[in-house]
Amino acid sequence: METLTGTDIDKAQALLEQGCLVAIPTETVYGLAANALDPEAVLKIFEAKQRPQFNPLIVHISDWADAEHYVSHIPATAQLLAKAFTPGPLTFLLPKKDIIPDIITSGSSLVALRVPAHPVCRALLGRLSFPLAAPSANEFGYISPTLAAHVQQSLDGKVAYILDGGAATVGLESTIIGFDESEEVIVYRVGGLGIEQLEAFLGKKVRFPVRTQEQAPLTSGQLKSHYAPHTALYTGDISDLASQFPGKKIASISFSNTYPLEHVQQFVLSPAGSLTEAAGNLFRVMREIDALQADIILAEIFPDEGLGRAINDRLNRARAVFKP
Ligand code: TXA
Ligand code: MG
Repeated sequence: METLTGTDIDKAQALLEQGCLVAIPTETVYGLAANALDPEAVLKIFEAKQRPQFNPLIVHISDWADAEHYVSHIPATAQLLAKAFTPGPLTFLLPKKDIIPDIITSGSSLVALRVPAHPVCRALLGRLSFPLAAPSANEFGYISPTLAAHVQQSLDGKVAYILDGGAATVGLESTIIGFDESEEVIVYRVGGLGIEQLEAFLGKKVRFPVRTQEQAPLTSGQLKSHYAPHTALYTGDISDLASQFPGKKIASISFSNTYPLEHVQQFVLSPAGSLTEAAGNLFRVMREIDALQADIILAEIFPDEGLGRAINDRLNRARAVFKP
């Protein structure tokens, strides 16, 4: 059955209270939500997304003050960061309380908590007596949705309702942080909150996890191939790369430049040169290019600062499957 898209918060609330799946808008990307405290409802998320069950879910709460209901310990630094950056695109990995079902965390003792900033999402969460478990509302491994229409494309018939909150303003998934034994911040996924902002707030450099080949990734943000379009994607200098694929139908993704390459269909993410704007456009453009059925996508390497870092991270993962 075709899934309805609309702006009816009452309907979204009622369906979630019945244990159904509802796609919800957030400022980062759309989420595929269910009652986080109901393991049967949560199981439906994994089925709809064809998501492996070793991949844990983020729990969305309406206010950071509720965090204490779901986690057993909040480091002082986490409190300060939450005060500064939530609601917003920052997710915290913290030790879970028993009320969080194991299916949410894939058996881990840590749960991922986030307070989304999107007003419609906040209104919905504010009405519910439970938090919402929600991964991005796409099929596993594909590009995250930044529009209600993207959710419809990926999950039509598999979700009870799509709550339309317009275009996601951040456009990239949240930044995920955890804490080591001495409660120092570790960044597990670069995302919608820039690393520089975290570092400026903390007054020091953050660390990234050290991982050996054999260890399973702790977050899918660490999977090598993820967020990938169906079209083969290469990164580097667009003019150089374009000359290496004669006769191919080529689409390009650049930051602010347009190239004198007539045979290339060019998508410029921010003519004005804003990385924030570019991040907001990246996933939509990747989907648009997929729909064109180009042979290849050529993408620039973005400035490695602010959201450019998260853009490069997503482009690198999108690229990994197609490495020649
Ligand atoms: O912006 C976002 O974070 C969006 C919106 C919907 O909130 N959500 C999102 O969810 O991107 P998802 O499932 O696509 O990515 C969540 C990441 C995954 O890489 C997952 O492995 C990690 O969070 N994660 C969740 N719970 C975890 C846990 N207990 N331990 C380690 N990683 C966890
Ligand atoms: Mg995802």
